[in-house]
Amino acid sequence: MADLTTTVNGLLMPNPFVIGSGPPGTNANVIGKAFDEGWGAVIAKTISLEAEKVINVQPRYARLRSRDSKEIFGWENIELISDRSFDVWMDEFKSLKDKYPERILIASIMEEYRKDAWCEIVERCQDVGVNAFELNLSCPHGLPERKMGSAMGVNPDLVEEVTGWVMSVAKVPVWAKMTPNVTRIEDPSAAALRAGADGISAINTIRCVLGVDLKTLRPEPSVEGYTTPGGYSCQAVKPIALRNCMEIATLMRTDFPGRTLSGIGGIETGHDAAEFLLLGSDCVQVCTGVMKMGYKMVKPMMDELASFMDGHGFNSIDEFKGYSLQFFRTHAELVAIQAEAREKKKAEHDAQMIREDAQWTGDDFVDQSDALSRG
Ligand SMILES: Cc1cc2nc3c(=O)[nH]c(=O)nc-3n(C[C@H](O)[C@H](O)[C@H](O)COP(=O)(O)O)c2cc1C
Repeated sequence: MADLTTTVNGLLMPNPFVIGSGPPGTNANVIGKAFDEGWGAVIAKTISLEAEKVINVQPRYARLRSRDSKEIFGWENIELISDRSFDVWMDEFKSLKDKYPERILIASIMEEYRKDAWCEIVERCQDVGVNAFELNLSCPHGLPERKMGSAMGVNPDLVEEVTGWVMSVAKVPVWAKMTPNVTRIEDPSAAALRAGADGISAINTIRCVLGVDLKTLRPEPSVEGYTTPGGYSCQAVKPIALRNCMEIATLMRTDFPGRTLSGIGGIETGHDAAEFLLLGSDCVQVCTGVMKMGYKMVKPMMDELASFMDGHGFNSIDEFKGYSLQFFRTHAELVAIQAEAREKKKAEHDAQMIREDAQWTGDDFVDQSDALSRG
């Protein structure tokens, strides 16, 4: 039977399924529920020092369904980071670590462009026992006026500087979470890794407008008739997330060996997870999937990943992590590979057709003649 345990930056997880930062990690009760259901680790909802500055609106989600089955496959949110007080969060982190000492609890943090604020948030969280940090440099809609989230994450110089501040005080592993709303995700990723981040998480949501209500003519989600572009997640983003993860994993292999990747975006099944692992992720995160299906979804995901591994004879995640990265080439290389393969096939066909003169029957006479010709 396949062994799903995995160790990422020294953090031992019973399986690679991690709750991604967002509503499924919004307080100690739900984080405890996630541990009880067997999730490999939990990343809490993003926190900052001054929760009173965070003001959420309602509604803040809009969803896209398939025409036939009505299944939700796209999800926009305009939710900000946690609006719960930092002190309450510190108490909750401490009580979670008291109750679940062996489980991996990761704090997602976001702050303004101030070294003292980043250092304070890191020091206070690690004092109450969190096992690692994820730096939210990637929320696409929230708090750009305070230069937070992706306002910072699209700028590699800022990413490098802020990650450096964090690394100067962090005593536990640090992952930098990337925004896909850039042309080359390798650039901010490399900046974070240069500054010493232990790993990269990717992707956060994709900036979007989900749609326009054709009765009211108002874009969604509509807050008193108005909206703002939000972040897109769920199944629909998986191909974009896989591409981003492939690019980051390839960069890590060449320039930053030993760093880790936490893959995120549209993961809902064990097979989805297997694809991210095959493209170099060390673990996978699920956010919107939990909002659709609940915490119990981890069990069928684990079963499906284990049966995929059994089917291929893989005993551990390390045995196939990154395996499929070797099959990427440039388009020009594909053209050359295909021309060579066609040439080889033709040569094989010709070789098959050439028989001793005495064996000719006349049925394949034209093919025989072709095979013996040049040009
Ligand atoms: C409602 C909602 C709230 C989110 N809040 C946060 C957040 O506070 N911090 C963060 O880093 N990412 C946040 N995310 C992004 C997710 O962690 C994840 O990166 C993204 O949704 C893609 O994964 P998914 O398709 O599994 O949801 C949020 C996503 C959703 C849908």
